[in-house]
Amino acid sequence: MTAQFPAARPRRLRRTPALRRLVAETRLSPAELVLPMFVKEGIDAPQPVASMPGVYQHTRDSLRKAAHDAVEAGVGGIILFGVPAVKDGEGSAADDPAGIVQLALRDLVSDLGDSTVVMTDLCLDEYTDHGHCGVLTQTGEIDNDATLRRYASIAVAQAAAGAAVVGPSGMMDGQVGAIREALDGAGYPDVAVMAYSAKYSSAYYGPFRDAAECAPRFGDRSTHQQDPANADESLREVFLDLDEGADMVMVKPAGAYLDVIRRVRDAVDVPVVAYQVSGEYAMIEAAAEKGWLDRERTIMESLLSIRRAGADIVLTYWATEVARGLTA
Ligand code: PBG
Repeated sequence: MTAQFPAARPRRLRRTPALRRLVAETRLSPAELVLPMFVKEGIDAPQPVASMPGVYQHTRDSLRKAAHDAVEAGVGGIILFGVPAVKDGEGSAADDPAGIVQLALRDLVSDLGDSTVVMTDLCLDEYTDHGHCGVLTQTGEIDNDATLRRYASIAVAQAAAGAAVVGPSGMMDGQVGAIREALDGAGYPDVAVMAYSAKYSSAYYGPFRDAAECAPRFGDRSTHQQDPANADESLREVFLDLDEGADMVMVKPAGAYLDVIRRVRDAVDVPVVAYQVSGEYAMIEAAAEKGWLDRERTIMESLLSIRRAGADIVLTYWATEVARGLTA
């Protein structure tokens, strides 16, 4: 039979919102969204982050309020970043039991209980006066193994303050193993490790460095973070982290690395996390402010695309707003 008109018409299933909803391959729900939050020591009102409209450096009190709102909206988790008042070469505030992150963690854990998952970013750059993710040698290079000892100690301090999941983001070799061993040795075998496994040396982190006040004073992070040219290498990083005991693996940034998310998703059987970073947030906010993009539609499309690429969990600064929209 020579059909004059097509028998197969994919448009049939696109005809109405109900049909499109029924056949959607990818869904977004609040439970897989994680909100990154910043808490700063020594301020008495929340400070807006100029390059991230809608994002704040919180006081301990405003953090509690914003975390409560996130949980009420149904977000699956919160990941906490601290900005200490005093920084030094070793990043001493990072594992101080009275350091800002540990204090804020205790607040959140006591307020929120089991209603969400409270996680921490585990790195040194917010705490060191030089802004690097590790401690330095005499010649100003990052000392990988000395840094591992610091990370181990930070992991224990964060676990003691109630973190359910710690997220090492410094891209030091062996960091997951060192942290796992330290947690187990200190009596925290149940604290999970969400490894920032494939973390690229990315220009998209620019606005975050305002939010966390952690721009390196000299040099950059290309000696430890991955080169944007490489994708095979991501799998090597992911498998090393899994061997070392990672419970979840992350690809970061998300939007420019959707191919990497897909490859990791196809290669592993643990939850895959993607971090929609500060620059991804800032680009959409800025274009929307100018009236050049439809803000809500672009946000939803960006998140759906990250899920479609294969991420099970998405870290996004829009988590509360999007979760609210999804449950409304
Ligand atoms: C390091 C860390 C960074 C981000 C998360 N953890 C900055 C960096 O590696 O330079 C970036 C997150 C973002 O851009 O939203 N502690």
